[in-house]
Amino acid sequence: MHVGILTGGGDCPGLNAVIRALTLALTEAGDVRVSGIRQGFLGLLEDRVQPLDAARLRGLINEGGTVLGSHNRADPFAYFGAGGADCSARALDCLQRHGIEVLVAVGGDGTMTIAERFARLGVPVVGVPKTIDNDLMHNERSFGFDSAVAVVADALGRLGTTARSHGRVMVLETMGRHAGWIALEGGLAGGADAIVLPELGYDGQALAALCERRSREQGYALVCVAEGVKLAAAGESAGAGETVGQRLMQDLAPRLGPEAELRYTLLGHLQRGGAPTAFDRVLATRFGVQAAQLVLQRRHGQMVALQGDRCVAVSLADVAGASRLVPLDHELMQAARCLGVLANP
Ligand code: F6P
Repeated sequence: MHVGILTGGGDCPGLNAVIRALTLALTEAGDVRVSGIRQGFLGLLEDRVQPLDAARLRGLINEGGTVLGSHNRADPFAYFGAGGADCSARALDCLQRHGIEVLVAVGGDGTMTIAERFARLGVPVVGVPKTIDNDLMHNERSFGFDSAVAVVADALGRLGTTARSHGRVMVLETMGRHAGWIALEGGLAGGADAIVLPELGYDGQALAALCERRSREQGYALVCVAEGVKLAAAGESAGAGETVGQRLMQDLAPRLGPEAELRYTLLGHLQRGGAPTAFDRVLATRFGVQAAQLVLQRRHGQMVALQGDRCVAVSLADVAGASRLVPLDHELMQAARCLGVLANP
C-alpha cells in the first residue's frame, strides 16, 4: 500500500511526532510505503511529493514545526495560484500519478473541510486533528494546545513579577481565533486575575472593576484576553492593524484613571513555536498510531479524535466547517467563575 501524508494550515508543536508515529506504525505493520506531500495541499497542486524514510524520522519526536512544511491558503477547490479556480482535478492527478492510495491529512478545520470534499470525490482519506486553538469538533484535545498553554502560563508568571514590582495592570493577548480555550487554560495555569473569552463577550466596565479590585488587594492585576474577543459590546471593534489587546487597553485605560499604569504583551506565534510538551508528544503519537490503524483497516472518511481518554474515529463530515467553542457550563468555565476571574460571569 502507498500512503501519502500532508500537514495543512498553521503549524503547531507535535506535527513531526504524528508524521513519525504514522510512518513507523505503517511501515512496521508490513508492506506499506509512505510519502510526504510538502506544504499541505499545495504539494498536491505543485507535485511536491517525496518518500519518507522511517529511520530518519525516529529522532523527530521532540522537534517543533513540521518537516513537511505547511500552507494555510492552498485550497485545491479555490486555488489562489489559479485566481481562485477549482483545481481539485490537478490534485487528484497528482495522487494518481504517484500511486497514492490513501491520503492522511493532518490539520485544523480548513484542512478537514478540504479532506472531506476529497472524500466525497472518492479519495480514501483519513484525518488527524491539529490546532493549538483546540477547537475542532468532536475532539476534546488537539496536540499543540498543551504546548501553547504552557507558553501562556510561563508568560503570565513572568508578567506577574514585573507587574508586582511596578504596581501595573498587565494585559496579555493569546491566540484563539474563534474559541477561548488557550486563554482559559493558560489564564488559569498562569494565575490570571481576569480572563476575557470570546464565548462570553466583552464588558469593559466589569473588567475595569475587577482590575481595580485586584490592584487594591494585591497591588497589580494580570489580564489574559483571547484574540477572538469582539469588543463590539463596548461599542468598539478592532480597527485595521490593531489587535484585540490594543483595543482593550484603549478601552480600559480611561476607565482605570490617570494613576493606573497599563502595559500590553502580544504572545503571537511564540505559542506555536518550539518543542512539544511531553503530553503533546504522547497525544500526537497516539493520533499517528490510530490514523495508521484506520488506514490499515481501510476505514476512510474518518478523523481520529480524543474523547474522554480514548482515541476514537469520527466522520469527517461531522467535523468539517464548525468550531468547538468553550461551553458556558464547562467545568473549567465554572472553575474560573468560582475563582472570580471572569469579568462577566
Ligand atoms: O488557528 C491557529 C492559529 O494559530 C490561530 O490561533 C491564529 O489566529 C492563526 O492561527 C494565526 O495564523 P497565521 O499563522 O496565518 O498568522
